[in-house]
Amino acid sequence: MSVRLDLTAGNLLAKGNDRYVYQHPEDDNLIIKVVIPNIEKYRSKVREVQREIKECVPKSELDKRYIQKIKGLVSTNMGLGEVIVKEKSADGTIAKTLYDIVLEGEFDTEKQLKLNELLGWFMTTKVLINSLHCKNIVYALDDDGVNHFKIIDGFGDKTFFQLSKLSSYILAKSKIKCLKRMLDQLNDISN
Ligand SMILES: Nc1ncnc2c1ncn2[C@@H]1O[C@H](COP(=O)(O)OP(=O)(O)OP(=O)(O)O)[C@@H](O)[C@H]1O
Ligand SMILES: [Mg+2]
Repeated sequence: MSVRLDLTAGNLLAKGNDRYVYQHPEDDNLIIKVVIPNIEKYRSKVREVQREIKECVPKSELDKRYIQKIKGLVSTNMGLGEVIVKEKSADGTIAKTLYDIVLEGEFDTEKQLKLNELLGWFMTTKVLINSLHCKNIVYALDDDGVNHFKIIDGFGDKTFFQLSKLSSYILAKSKIKCLKRMLDQLNDISN
């Protein structure tokens, strides 16, 4: 972490509740995520970044298709930044979230099938995902020219008793709960 990157308002690509997402100033294929300075839960959110780095790791070849790729950490004028591969749409701009796709009336049959594919993977992957929120899923074009929905946030296990260490039955039950919450959300946006 020898260089310090300067992130400017003009390079801001997206924003979540906790983090700003900037264009990497030197590489169009990368983004930098930083925890928003001065938010109340700043310290715990920075701790979550450490958890994300530990958990957002493919456990199988197939996992690589469905989760964002973290390249490492970098020091920035906005604090510690995560360097992450930028998921893109077919036109090269930053990938749209499932939330925006549904809101803009672009959720067609093809995308429904692609979402089913992601959800099938979600039920079987060993990567721990604690939130399938529609803003944490983006529709991106892969290098092989195929579109996929991918997960870009919500990695790790938030519960005190780590589900991963309990039975596979409990884990499956919690995944179904997570899935149901996401489908309800999808329904709410559509209506
Ligand atoms: N790897 C990525 N490729 C493309 N876009 C991304 C990527 N990661 C994040 N984004 C965009 O940035 C937004 C915010 O990122 P992220 O969800 O990581 O922030 P957050 O503040 O932790 O979110 P939350 O509000 O769920 O806590 C996402 O909703 C998405 O639009
Ligand atoms: Mg998010």
